[in-house]
Amino acid sequence: MNFKRSDFPEGFIFGAATSSYQIEGHQFGGAGKTHWDSFAATPGNVVRSETGDLACDHFHRYANDYMLMKEGGVDAYRFSTSWARVLPEGRGAPNQEGLDYYDRIVDSMLENGLKPCATLYHWELPQPLADLGGWRNRDIAKWFADFAEVIMGRIGDRMYSVAPINEPWCVAWLSHFLGHHAPGMRDIRATARAMHHVLLAHGSAIQAMRGLGMSNLGGVFNLEWATPADDSDAAREAAELYDGYYNRFFLGGVFKKAYPENVMRGLLPHMPKNFEDDFDVIGTPLDWCGLNYYTRKIIAPNEGAWPSHEEVPGPLPKTQMDWEIYPEGLYQFLKRTQSEYTGDLPLLVTENGMANPDLIQDGQVNDQARIDYLNQHVAAAKRAMAEGVPLKGYMFWSLLDNYEWALGYEKRFGLVHVDFETLERTPKLSYEALKVALTS
Ligand code: FCB
Repeated sequence: MNFKRSDFPEGFIFGAATSSYQIEGHQFGGAGKTHWDSFAATPGNVVRSETGDLACDHFHRYANDYMLMKEGGVDAYRFSTSWARVLPEGRGAPNQEGLDYYDRIVDSMLENGLKPCATLYHWELPQPLADLGGWRNRDIAKWFADFAEVIMGRIGDRMYSVAPINEPWCVAWLSHFLGHHAPGMRDIRATARAMHHVLLAHGSAIQAMRGLGMSNLGGVFNLEWATPADDSDAAREAAELYDGYYNRFFLGGVFKKAYPENVMRGLLPHMPKNFEDDFDVIGTPLDWCGLNYYTRKIIAPNEGAWPSHEEVPGPLPKTQMDWEIYPEGLYQFLKRTQSEYTGDLPLLVTENGMANPDLIQDGQVNDQARIDYLNQHVAAAKRAMAEGVPLKGYMFWSLLDNYEWALGYEKRFGLVHVDFETLERTPKLSYEALKVALTS
């Protein structure tokens, strides 16, 4: 790496991130069914219909995974808790085995010197709640706050930080408008409701955790830069609208208690009644704001129904996801989030990384492309810090190759390679480079 720990202020946190369904092995430990299980069981949704049943078998191998992070010099571990593992029906009786599991892994994180940074929900909604309408049902805010109390009642005393929901845009738009993730809907009314309810659930869970006396609570937003396809006003407006429903809707709801006007032009007829009355809950004050950043999109207007635009291919080098590599977007988002939304509030990069078709050759994985990607993005973050952005930490996605949702096991994001036949872990060159950067 071309950065090292001593280039950063004292106390700056480096972390690695994962999520429950992507690594744990959902078949173990009495977890209930989730909407990802039914989504994956429906032909055409997921590559080879793969599921998180076994994933990386982290359920049994967590101690080894934490040791890898410890040896790699990482300070913090961003993980998530599976709602269906804790509450198989989504509500009601907890699964003691699930609670015991989270208790055990948190102790193991601490034994390995890792700061536990929890996300309560990283996408695997319990199926019984999906049956009741899931994110379209306003009651989800209450169900989710109850889940927050149950899980944090058990492990909250040992958390370094907690965020309720990973990436509200993915929970709402990607899953209810584009249909790419569970529950695979393509419906504007469902989308408008999910977009609002996901933020209401976020605020309700923050309040529930405040009620437990917890601190260092934040939100995790995925941001994607939007570049107009050309110089026309129409292209500029199209990109602004993409930016509106992707980025500004969620940051605006939480930090300004308002939704952007250009987005409401399309969504207003579909919003839940009296949604404005929820902004005080949605905007419950936070202690930090997390940004997940990967790429940008180039947006062109089209003649279709609202939002009347489309993505067009860009000229930059791409990752295995076909995502353009655009570190400038991270710099811009850090600057803009501070100046327009969060001010002095600490910011964190809670996810950044790339997929690469990493192969083991002679016992090694040479992922120089990932080292380059991380170098460029960390440099962009440092540039923002030098200009006064209060960035307090940086978490890499991901510790392990894992279940990349609808794309199955073939997109490898890990610092550590996983053989999905044997489940053997092999640290990649990027892991070794990061280890030198953080420990020497
Ligand atoms: C993010 C998700 C994470 C992973 C990465 C590549 O949107 O939070 O689970 O899929 O993208």
